[in-house]
Amino acid sequence: MKITVVGAGAVGATCADNIARKELAEELVLLDIKEGFAEGKAIDMMQTAALLGFNTKITGVTNDYSRTAGSAVAVITSGLPRKPGMTREELIGINAGIVKGVAENILKFSPDAIIIVISNPMDTMTYLSLKSLGLPKNRIIGMGGTLDSARFKYYLSVALNCNSNDLQGFVIGGHGDTTMIPLTRYATYQSLPVTDILSADVLAKVAADTMVGGATLTGLLGTSAWYAPGAAGAALVESIVRDEKKLFTCCVALDGEYGQSDICLGVPVIVGRNGWEKIIDYNLNEEEKAAFNKSADAVRAMNNVLKE
Ligand code: NAI
Repeated sequence: MKITVVGAGAVGATCADNIARKELAEELVLLDIKEGFAEGKAIDMMQTAALLGFNTKITGVTNDYSRTAGSAVAVITSGLPRKPGMTREELIGINAGIVKGVAENILKFSPDAIIIVISNPMDTMTYLSLKSLGLPKNRIIGMGGTLDSARFKYYLSVALNCNSNDLQGFVIGGHGDTTMIPLTRYATYQSLPVTDILSADVLAKVAADTMVGGATLTGLLGTSAWYAPGAAGAALVESIVRDEKKLFTCCVALDGEYGQSDICLGVPVIVGRNGWEKIIDYNLNEEEKAAFNKSADAVRAMNNVLKE
């Protein structure tokens, strides 16, 4: 199996590194527009194979899409990241052109590929891909909620002084500082509701920290994060290629689910060989429904910028 990652920057290279370490593909193509950059990253990663013991062949290419031919999955990370003080939304103009061009090139050589969109603003880039590529909706997956849910579990693990692996928790809605919705009511620790363990104040802080989790890191790092975003992309690739049918929050096309249509938004989905295979309908209460609708309004306003 072949997998392509477009964008050999911080997120793309980390995603590729995770895919290789997990041996999710025989061949992994890393493509970037910057001359020699993907080649350099690929060689550097290949030189870890003898140390880490993986058997995936990583090839770096500069803009030569013919080398990506026959990919089962393509992960799109190309585009500008945000700088401190920037919102993800401010990236829309430049990244829209990049994501559309990249996705079209991928499909020319890999017409059956499942596309994972990571570039920001991710909800709008996923919607753009859905509208412009003419693919079945299940083959277009936006990665945002997978990361936000991992961050939610991280902040819960700090509050509970426990391991993130003992936690379940999902963040739905848009992938923006003000549009994401940590579903505190559904989060569990060792199968117990966290609402039975932590006070409302602590949970409110966990939710607030989660929502600005990306901005906090951008402030510390001077650019946006890459370890968790890259690992989140690779986790989705893993569920697809191993047909794990795991539950993730992903940004997918809604056709009436959660009361929304003509939009891509983060909801719990099963991810397997066919891309996202099924939307899980959590029973939102009135407050959560209102937050979800507000999130949809904000994402729709951003999508409308594409039409201007
Ligand atoms: P980066 O600047 O390190 O890497 C981006 C790479 O894309 C660069 O190497 C650049 O040369 C390449 N590129 C630009 N235009 C291209 C084109 N037309 N074709 C091929 N390659 C091209 O940025 P980083 O940190 O890797 O972030 C990448 C994107 O992912 C950004 O838009 C960022 O906002 C987004 N992101 C999304 C997350 C999510 O949860 N959805 C989380 C973190 C970042």
